[in-house]
Amino acid sequence: MAAHLLLGQTLRFRSNPFHDGPDAAEHLSRGAVLIRDGRIAALGDAEALRAEAPDVPVTDHGAGLILAGFVDCHVHYPQTGIIASWGRRLIDWLNSYTFPEEMRFGDPDYAARMAELYLDFSLANGITTAASYCTIHPESVEALFAAAEARGMRMVAGKVMMDRNAPDGLRDDPQTGYDQSKALLERWHGRGRLSYAVTPRFAPTSTPDQLDAAGSLWAEHPDCAMQTHLSEQREEIAWMRELFPDHPDYLSVYETHGLVGEGAVMGHAIHLTDRERASLVETGTGVAHCPTSNTFIGSGLCDVRGLVGQGVPVGLATDVGGGSSFSMLRTMAAAYEIGQLRGDALHPAELLWLATEGSAQVLRQARHVGNLEVGREADLLVLDLASTPVIAERAGRAGDIWEALFPTIMLGDDRAVAQVYVNGAPVG
Ligand code: GUN
Ligand code: ZN
Repeated sequence: MAAHLLLGQTLRFRSNPFHDGPDAAEHLSRGAVLIRDGRIAALGDAEALRAEAPDVPVTDHGAGLILAGFVDCHVHYPQTGIIASWGRRLIDWLNSYTFPEEMRFGDPDYAARMAELYLDFSLANGITTAASYCTIHPESVEALFAAAEARGMRMVAGKVMMDRNAPDGLRDDPQTGYDQSKALLERWHGRGRLSYAVTPRFAPTSTPDQLDAAGSLWAEHPDCAMQTHLSEQREEIAWMRELFPDHPDYLSVYETHGLVGEGAVMGHAIHLTDRERASLVETGTGVAHCPTSNTFIGSGLCDVRGLVGQGVPVGLATDVGGGSSFSMLRTMAAAYEIGQLRGDALHPAELLWLATEGSAQVLRQARHVGNLEVGREADLLVLDLASTPVIAERAGRAGDIWEALFPTIMLGDDRAVAQVYVNGAPVG
């Protein structure tokens, strides 16, 4: 279908609600999205757009809320099968659950099966774009990009680089890590809707030589993303200090090796010094807030409002399988709960912005996706704001769109995702 008119409630952002409050969002209770050739061609009042495009087929989503598809700016698709693994903190959790599972992704058939499952779960939850770590195996990257390409999805991904403190069979070395990453990047980056992310896992699993190689590769291809982990857990920071005793703090390791700047995405970024925060601002380095992971693994409470207020690009992420849910609604709920524990209630507009435009900006994909805006790609989501009896009861008492939406954020799951559109086409 070259052109398609969707009717329903619509919600978009004119600006950032962290700066401008909830009025940064525009809500139309009877709105419309005109899609042409996979892009948003017009937005506005339902009757007006219908009159302007009388011959275009119409899908009426009724009271459904049409918004941009969710963008998950930090996830590990190879950990899909070990989500909800009990009883460990970060380093033990990596050794007990994560590394044994990641070992299996050298098998292209297994990688392909898990990539399909992962994309099924993500789309069922309204996630239309993600930035995923793969494993050290090039096969794991091939599998995800091929599966995303077949579905027409905008996807960011990269081969994990890891040359120490990981088991046999799960290490590369500075040269092979560089060569394999470069070959994958040259094959996939900019092909259709796909982008490559240079992906050194985190400082403790890379030698300085490997971090140098990662920095060189990124410098050679600066329009790629770069993703890694920063200051997630106190034990991890203590370990980093033993491994890099000459550095004043965690971020300085990445600075030294050319791994900060626009398009760099630091997962977690919880326990930061003032110097590190200032450096994130100065360099334009982004942060992926991973709230379900930060509670599940017991990492801590990220200062989202403080970071956004200082000018750090921040997005929202599931971080499966450290994260405990594929649902971006559940992830927003966890971000709200973490805010509450910090004495700071994030507004539903702020939560939604983080899950869409915020994440798209962190990934430098906001020209393409993340908001209802004319010219962006039509990756859309329709939420049913009455998807269960409890949610319907609470939302039925709402006085405005935020009160109507908040029960779905707090209580909703994939049942609230009424329809997803990828590149203008309905999924499923
Ligand atoms: N730090 C290094 N690797 C990982 C990972 O796979 N998950 C999380 N949550 N933290 C990490
Ligand atoms: Zn992670």
